[in-house]
Amino acid sequence: MDDIELLLKRAAEMLRQESPRMDRQELVAFVRTFLHRREAFLDINRRHGSPLYIIDEQALLDRAGQFGDAFRREIPGIRLFYALKSNHHPAIASRLVGTGMGLDVSSGVELTTALAIADAMIIFSGPGKLPSELALAVAHADRVTVLIDSFGELARLEQAAGDAGVIIQAGVRLTIDERGLWRKFGIPLADLERFLTEAAVCRHVAVKGLQFHSSWNMNPDNQIAFITRVGAALQALPKKKRARISFVDIGGGYWPMAGEWLQAAGTPEGRLRQMIAPETAATGVSYRYVSTPIEIFARRLGETVKSELLSRVDCTIYTEPGRWLCHDAMHILLTVIDKKGDDLVITDGATNAIGWERFETDYFPVINLSRPDEQERPGLVLGSLCTPHDVWGYGYYGSDIQPGDVLLIPAQGAYTYSLRQNFIKPLPETVVMPSVRPDGS
Ligand SMILES: Cc1ncc(COP(=O)(O)O)c(C=O)c1O
Repeated sequence: MDDIELLLKRAAEMLRQESPRMDRQELVAFVRTFLHRREAFLDINRRHGSPLYIIDEQALLDRAGQFGDAFRREIPGIRLFYALKSNHHPAIASRLVGTGMGLDVSSGVELTTALAIADAMIIFSGPGKLPSELALAVAHADRVTVLIDSFGELARLEQAAGDAGVIIQAGVRLTIDERGLWRKFGIPLADLERFLTEAAVCRHVAVKGLQFHSSWNMNPDNQIAFITRVGAALQALPKKKRARISFVDIGGGYWPMAGEWLQAAGTPEGRLRQMIAPETAATGVSYRYVSTPIEIFARRLGETVKSELLSRVDCTIYTEPGRWLCHDAMHILLTVIDKKGDDLVITDGATNAIGWERFETDYFPVINLSRPDEQERPGLVLGSLCTPHDVWGYGYYGSDIQPGDVLLIPAQGAYTYSLRQNFIKPLPETVVMPSVRPDGS
């Protein structure tokens, strides 16, 4: 069989498969949670206008509590570091620090944001740290642990810490895949012993830990597989070197419990269909790939950590969740400016506020707070940028849609605010929607 025949056969198999459809009742239940708070959102709109980012403090604190409870139950003493890159708004980071978390940063800019939050303990990872970034870390050696990315960076950090006359705490990042693009992160496990030998002669860098990170985990299988490899590597180390390891950071990458919500064009079969027939973009059907509850992540990772790591070294476990904590913690509020037909409206805000063409592939309900209804009606809801890819949705929950209506796009907390672009339209302001205390105040 030649290449084309083989590809056509695979394409036919792919097109015949249908991704799991989203359960309509679950979706309506989700929309209802926002319709219940409709007056509060409309009140924010009356006071602050739109477009707006709304930080949902209650959702943030609920998630922080749930994540912390799940992991602390399974891995006593675990330390949590919120990955700032997922949403770097200081109000989010400071509230999470208030629950006892530290912060995980990946650049000098993020480090500066984190340092401004009192009491935040900080881990600093990422490839290619600049001399100025290492100098900033070293200047705050009382709060910052550097997760070193390479042998070269070990030497540069030793130089920076020596220049400042301090000893800085550190760990080393391990690459989870020695082939392909993920090689850019960390060192191969096979080089760990050599790294620890080189670190042992550095008088200003105290290498005490290991770190790895894998992304987009719908279940803990990848994390478990790598922890098992780390355990074997620790076992193979000479006793003296093994005893130096006092923390293992198992990274972040937990997919939110709601699962991945997709438009047809975001599914594997839909992407292929669109390449061949682009006119089939929207179908009015949405899809959902399920994720694993965080309690199951915690239980299975806890079991593996105990059998593969804690049986070999006396260490503290760190984890660096981002998306899981902030996904539900920010919503976008918009107003309809123009109605250009029964099936097309334009909003004041635009998708430069989220920085990518998210809703062409990801599905999120557009909720018309001004004309609430539990029925989703078809109609293009588009932003006001000079690009046709400025899409919020292909339908809306509401009885109708008219200029002046206030719309909510829920659960836009992760990798949107921090990816926003200064492109054509001004960026929205942010408003915090305070949590409701048990006494209702
Ligand atoms: C080193 C590191 N830690 C943690 C995270 C957070 O991942 P997530 O937001 O998927 O939990 C990332 C994300 O890219 C990362 O690169």
